[in-house]
Amino acid sequence: MPNRGKKQRKNKKAPGESVKILISGPRIQRRIQALAKQIRKDFPDEPLHLVSVLKGGVFFLTDLARSISGEVSFDFIAVSSYGQDTHSSGQVRLTRDLDSSIEGKTVIVVEDILDTGMTLQYLLKLFQQRKPKHLRVAVLLDKPDRRIAPVHADYVGFSIPNEFVVGYGLDYSERYRNLPYVGVLSLDSKWAKKAAAK
Ligand code: PRP
Repeated sequence: MPNRGKKQRKNKKAPGESVKILISGPRIQRRIQALAKQIRKDFPDEPLHLVSVLKGGVFFLTDLARSISGEVSFDFIAVSSYGQDTHSSGQVRLTRDLDSSIEGKTVIVVEDILDTGMTLQYLLKLFQQRKPKHLRVAVLLDKPDRRIAPVHADYVGFSIPNEFVVGYGLDYSERYRNLPYVGVLSLDSKWAKKAAAK
């Protein structure tokens, strides 16, 4: 399986890469509408403060924010991980903090994907210390098979198998984030062998 690690710096499109649609754009949009309704139903009279994790969560945040009725504000945070194997080393580090305080607010953390859970585990601990009124998690994609940290999402768009997915914010070496759908990335086996040997 390819590696989504932040330290990859191969920006050239490799020969033999292909993306097969897993969740179409319209299906994503329909699911987001349903999640937005559910969130508003759970907090009928509350201003909601959405917090997204750069960069992958941005598309989900903007679509979700536009689908929730009533008062909604949002903010961004960024983290980085050490090593090439995403966050499985457990070393998550804050690289950009929120602009405003979350104390007393109803906060929904908005993530594109819940994978090992290390990122959310780190963020939830950090946010809990800042005394929000409520703290909830919305993820577009959940990969339960990959979980290391015992993190639970309150709102899940789609539970997916352990495939390397790109699109709708998710990248491979910074590419494919702009796809309006979520797809499974395959690499030509000859190319993958070459890359692994490097
Ligand atoms: C992805 C995703 C989550 C995190 C989830 O971010 O956006 O933040 O990984 O993985 P975890 O559950 O294993 O911690 P990534 O590091 O790829 O950065 P990006 O959003 O900038 O692409």
